[in-house]
Formats: sequence, structure tokens, C-alpha cells
Amino acid sequence: MAGIEIVDLKKSYWVEKKELPVLTGINLKVPERQITVILGRSGCGKTTLLRLAGGLERPDCGKILCGDGHRMAFVFQEPRLMPWLTVERNISFGLRKQEKKENVGRIREIIRTVGLEGFEKAYPSQLSGGMKQRAALARALAYRPSFIMMDEPFAALDYFTREQMQKELLRVQRAERCSILFVTHSIDEALLLGDRIAVIEGGRIKKEYRVEEGEKDRGRNLLEEPFIELKKNILKQLEDVEL
Ligand SMILES: Nc1ncnc2c1ncn2[C@@H]1O[C@H](COP(=O)(O)OP(=O)(O)O)[C@@H](O)[C@H]1O
Ligand SMILES: [Mg+2]
Repeated sequence: MAGIEIVDLKKSYWVEKKELPVLTGINLKVPERQITVILGRSGCGKTTLLRLAGGLERPDCGKILCGDGHRMAFVFQEPRLMPWLTVERNISFGLRKQEKKENVGRIREIIRTVGLEGFEKAYPSQLSGGMKQRAALARALAYRPSFIMMDEPFAALDYFTREQMQKELLRVQRAERCSILFVTHSIDEALLLGDRIAVIEGGRIKKEYRVEEGEKDRGRNLLEEPFIELKKNILKQLEDVEL
């Protein structure tokens, strides 16, 4: 099947013998070749949902349906690079020996795509925060995943770097046509990146939005319609504020 389908997913944690229900019934379709954003306040269960969708953890009940041979790659808030390996070797780290041999050209192309040309032999300590996250994204791409799971990957970056990385992610996603499940607590980030936005609240998907096809490639301006209206609507879902 194409994409991932999440059906009636439930997950609780047990803390000091007390049940902490985190996800109480998640239903979500995550299509291929798009960016699906999961948006919600801190602590609402976004990371838990991403880990379950990516198969890092098991649900209490419910299903995650995806095709056979699905390969998931992860990008976290911290780049998690190996400090003793060069950029190039970090990027090919997850590949088997044979794959590395076959993929020399591809790795070079990915390095160019994420804008790290000239830094192939640099070590992580020689890179800025944004460049480290580019390397983390390149490592995910090199794995040729069916899905890239991104957990607040730009949250630790300064405002300007973050804006630049968001634009670049859009460019890379369009160029590679990769499938991304992206978690954030930032409404603006969700509006900039999402083809679809799923708002999670109280352990469920409270509302889903789809951003019009035409808006995607024009370069989104959040200060213009329809994004102002969308933002108001999302804020209402999250805060029940009067606007
Ligand atoms: N391994 C764990 N054990 C116990 N509680 C956890 C564990 N992981 C997450 N939680 C709790 O589950 C809730 C959701 O966490 P998380 O999915 O990390 O939220 P988010 O990513 O939206 O900030 C939080 O209350 C958190 O404290
Ligand atoms: Mg989280």
C-alpha cells in the first residue's frame, strides 16, 4: 500500500503504577510524496506518535499499516552525528558496505542537494547548527527511506537559520519527492511546510487541514490569505481562544 495508515492507535505510559494515557485513539492517513505535519502543544504525544508510526515503539492497541519493506529514517531535534566521522562518512553511515559502493554518486548528489558541497571532509565540530541538521537530513535521504520521520528538527536553531532550513526542506522535498512525517509545536512551521496538517489534542487528531496544491510552490506568505484564516482556525483548535 502507498503511505502509512494509522488506525485506532492507543498508547499509555505507566509512571509509578499510574496510567498516563497519551494517545487515546489516533486515526490518520499519511500519504506518500507529501509533507504531513503533526502539530500540537508540548507534551501532547507528538514524539510518541512519530515513534509508533516509525516502528520504534509498539502501541497498546490499534494498527499501523504500511507496505512491506518500508524503510524509515529519522531526523531528531539534535543532529546525532558521530563526532569522529567526517560529514561524508556520517551520511553514508547507515548503509551497508555494498550500498556504499553503489551509492557514491548518489551521496555526492545528496550533499549538493542539502548544500554541504565543500564540507565533505569536515567534522561535525566544524559545522554550524544548521549545517549539522543538513547533514542529518542528508543521512536520512541517503538511506533511501520510504518515509522520513522528522521530530522538531529545527527547534534548536535560531530564527533565521530555522527559516532558511524550512525553505530548503521544501526545495529538497520537491526535488526528491520524498515522503515526510514532520512533528512540530510551531503553527507557523506547520503552515509553511505542511501539505497536510493534523492537529493533535487530548490524545486524538482534533482536526486535519489540507493546503491547496496551488499554494505549495508559490512560496507561502503566512501574512496573506488563506494562511491568516488557517492560523486563526488552528489557534481555535488548540486554545479555544476568541478571535
Ligand atoms: N518513556 C516514557 N515513560 C513515561 N512517560 C513518557 C515516556 N515518553 C513520553 N512520556 C510522557 O508522554 C507524554 C507525551 O510525550 P511526548 O510524546 O514526548 O510529547 P511531545 O513530543 O508532544 O512533547 C508526556 O506527558 C511525557 O511525559
Ligand atoms: Mg517531542
